[in-house]
Amino acid sequence: MPAHTFLPAIAPLTGRIAVPGDKSISHRALMFAGLAVGRSTIAGLLEGEDVLATAAAMRAFGAHVERCEGGTWIVEGAGLGSLLEPAQALDMGNSGTSTRLLMGLVASHGITATFAGDASLSRRPMERVITPLAQMGANITASPGGTLPLMVRGALPAVPIAYRLPVASAQVKSAVLLAGLNTPGITRVIEPVPTRDHTERMLEGFGARLEIGEEDGERVVGVHGEAELTPLDVTVPGDPSSAAFFIVAATLVPGSDLVVENVGINPTRAGLIEALRSMGADIAEESRREVGGEPVADLRVRHAALKGAAIDPALAPAMIDEFPILFVAAALAEGTTTTSGLEELRVKESDRLATMAAALTLAGARVDERGDGLVIQGTGGEPLAGTPEGAEIATRLDHRIAMSMAVAGLSSRSGVAVDDVAPIATSFPGFATLLEQAMS
Ligand code: S3P
Repeated sequence: MPAHTFLPAIAPLTGRIAVPGDKSISHRALMFAGLAVGRSTIAGLLEGEDVLATAAAMRAFGAHVERCEGGTWIVEGAGLGSLLEPAQALDMGNSGTSTRLLMGLVASHGITATFAGDASLSRRPMERVITPLAQMGANITASPGGTLPLMVRGALPAVPIAYRLPVASAQVKSAVLLAGLNTPGITRVIEPVPTRDHTERMLEGFGARLEIGEEDGERVVGVHGEAELTPLDVTVPGDPSSAAFFIVAATLVPGSDLVVENVGINPTRAGLIEALRSMGADIAEESRREVGGEPVADLRVRHAALKGAAIDPALAPAMIDEFPILFVAAALAEGTTTTSGLEELRVKESDRLATMAAALTLAGARVDERGDGLVIQGTGGEPLAGTPEGAEIATRLDHRIAMSMAVAGLSSRSGVAVDDVAPIATSFPGFATLLEQAMS
């Protein structure tokens, strides 16, 4: 558990930086390339621990996955329907996305796989994927409470279903669609609330046949099964969820004028930009373009004084991973910020409502924890006091808590001490170095 104290900003954030590749897209690129017949390449892959867990799992399923000099990854797919049975339990580390999507993959293959993970992942709910995958015929034995470790015995053939998502979750949607790839007929997912659509975008690129429409105001995604995926050269855009820490840091630190290059601005991910703008942030999108079937832009962020706001709960799915850093922005804004409809945050890498309420309070912010959100009284730009001498924030194996509180440290008088920065490597290796670079 390497502890660390994040110090007050030594300078404004300026210049141009690039954040690592998108985590969600990186997982999907490895999985779909691993299912294609032939050789795919992936440029800009996020080399964080979560994505490396997916790479290791795809190798265990028989794909050839290799990093080349220069950082491009080459994948020779095992072929849909031809996955091998892993010889040992798959170690998913901290990664919910790896676990839930790969459970879907196994569900429609005639193989058995065991999934295990760290203490955080072993507390997270898996019933949400077990239920639809069992309807498709998979036999899943989970630990008490529907958690990891668990074993999936795939069904061959699996049964196509039409599944209406009871929670707005791209992971559940993707698990069912992945299972549908090797299932006869059309497997459908009905989304009352749209979630990130990287699976749909990229599957089409790999040659799968999808039907995307709307019924009674709800989004419906169908995938034609027994597909054959064709190889693709994928370029992964920068991760908006990683850019988020720099967007908020540049907004908070006076004098900042920072360009974050090549950031994904897919509308199903861009809720934070809208929320921050509603609070007065100055974020300009420059050079809008498309990379790997995804919209990207260079984001120019200038320091701005923020005002508290009531954040529209309808934005939540498009910024579900950005609430910890939004809470930091709110703690430095003028007036009250109210968030609601965020029950899902309680089942992320940590309970992000409880963990952030405790973290910000320890750093000197005024926070009221409700059942479904936080209400935060901001300082109006005055730095937070910082953590008291000898006290440390509990990050609870959650990378986004550690990085959010690093940004809080920039806007504090004495710095913010956290108990463990190791989890940052799950999604953003090089975070601390890039933060220093932006201030030099
Ligand atoms: C993800 C979906 C989201 C998000 C997670 C990545 C994905 O989870 O929180 O970090 O890649 O599909 P849910 O689908 O559970 O909301």
